[in-house]
Amino acid sequence: MAVDEHDATTELHEDEPELEVEGEPEHEEALDPEVAARRRAALAQIRKFGDPVLRTRARPVDLFDEALREEVARMGALMDDAFGVGLAATQVGVVHRLLVYKASPGAPLAALVNPEVEWRGDEQEIMEEGCLSLPAVHVDVERAIHVRVRARDEYGTEILVEATGLEARVIQHEIDHLDGVLILDRTSREERKQAMAALREALDQV
Ligand code: NI
Repeated sequence: MAVDEHDATTELHEDEPELEVEGEPEHEEALDPEVAARRRAALAQIRKFGDPVLRTRARPVDLFDEALREEVARMGALMDDAFGVGLAATQVGVVHRLLVYKASPGAPLAALVNPEVEWRGDEQEIMEEGCLSLPAVHVDVERAIHVRVRARDEYGTEILVEATGLEARVIQHEIDHLDGVLILDRTSREERKQAMAALREALDQV
């Protein structure tokens, strides 16, 4: 199906504002102290680089029960408190193929269970991404601009998501997490080197 009418191109938008796939939006000192404390508490519950669960391939979910819906609600709350726009179950130590995200700041929470990228457009875009599991890391990542993802929601209902731009990027980032893949694996050797130095410093401060 010819969804993509453009040629396969790789575009680099250097002048565009930094994209925060998973968070670190504002400077903490500008935050209300209560909000900042909640954010720190949420971040403390999110697994960081070095934790083997982040390199684990998550297992498909086969039980769409109340416990799963509680997990979705818990992840959604953590994501909001941490100012993330996406969160994968592996990031909270649960090896379920489950991710939550918000397509835009005011959008309702979406949960994708057992997501599969069914179609990926040829058009790619490079943008800077961060990750709640990789403090201080911001690296350029090339991803498809358009994807179609088949999944189930937290009630087991089959859903088809046609995503573009930031939504497509967030979904791809979170599906990577479910496969044990991090943005460090998707950037240039040079950027990875710099990111690792920043990451070690940030993790030492925790
Ligand atoms: Ni991430």
